[in-house]
Amino acid sequence: MSKNDKDLDYEIFKELKESNNYLSGQNLANKFRISRQGLWKHIKNLTDCGYKIEAVPRLGYKIKNSPDKLYPWELRYNLNTKFIGKNIYFKDFLNSTQEFIFKLAQSGSPAGTVVVAERQKKGKGRMGRAWASPKGGVYLSCLLRPKSILLKDVSQISLVIALACIEAIKKETGIALSVKWPNDIFLGNKKLGGILCEISAEADKVNFVVVGIGLNINSTVLPKEAVSLRLHTNKSFSKVSLTKEIFRQIEAYYLELERGNGKKLLKEWQKYCFLWGSRIRVKVLDRTIEGEAAGIDQRGYLLVRQDTGLIDKVSSGDVIKIM
Ligand code: BTN
Repeated sequence: MSKNDKDLDYEIFKELKESNNYLSGQNLANKFRISRQGLWKHIKNLTDCGYKIEAVPRLGYKIKNSPDKLYPWELRYNLNTKFIGKNIYFKDFLNSTQEFIFKLAQSGSPAGTVVVAERQKKGKGRMGRAWASPKGGVYLSCLLRPKSILLKDVSQISLVIALACIEAIKKETGIALSVKWPNDIFLGNKKLGGILCEISAEADKVNFVVVGIGLNINSTVLPKEAVSLRLHTNKSFSKVSLTKEIFRQIEAYYLELERGNGKKLLKEWQKYCFLWGSRIRVKVLDRTIEGEAAGIDQRGYLLVRQDTGLIDKVSSGDVIKIM
């Protein structure tokens, strides 16, 4: 089987990553049936990507330092998912991963395709807002092609993705986060991350859903209402490990939703939401509703108890806690 250059970059990266010792250049070249000069070209590709690879005469090569960038080969390494992240596009700088993946979706890319960027120039937030996307954050979009989730239940996806991110971050870092309906991720009283779900549908049939996730991980320059894990703890975290865990968690929960087990997940989501019992103001497209946050229904819609006692159901909007 003949391998292309990118496959070989990955294979050589894997060999080096898995070894605690120096790997002989000659052995590596023999293993992949390439010349020493060919091997050097692949090592150079890796060093150009930011890896510090030490080359010691008579001993060989060893990775001394990795750049913690969301390179496809880093994310695929021991990922063990069924479909999320099998197909990854990496960009250092993009306008928006949402824009990019929407085109891929329209041209038939498979479910589970992911686009990641180190920075975005025109990151898109919910309700037409911009999403600040400086270096240090995780910015990714993931393509889903639901088979059994109906259009009326699609908002469940965005809540469950928030749940997946919160639990993945807890598992990887031990840091406890909360959520504000529908999917704003909070650390204390500041926003750490957000999710943007965009849907292509005809009549009541969902063609595809693109889920955009923005998380402030090691970012240091952010708007005043936002926080990152780094700003909160003064420590840096591995974006690669975190993103892989997010892929695994998203896949597990999304498959549960497809199997019709949304109720259980929404119940779990409710435990993380800090609005219950508070007085809130919800900005919906053409109106503002005020009342008490009373819960969510089985589709993930917010229930607001008005002063009259009537319950209003909100499918999308922006919530402010006022008391
Ligand atoms: C929000 O407003 O809370 C949602 C923010 C979503 C931002 C992410 S970053 C990756 C993806 N690409 C975008 O342009 N936006 C989403």
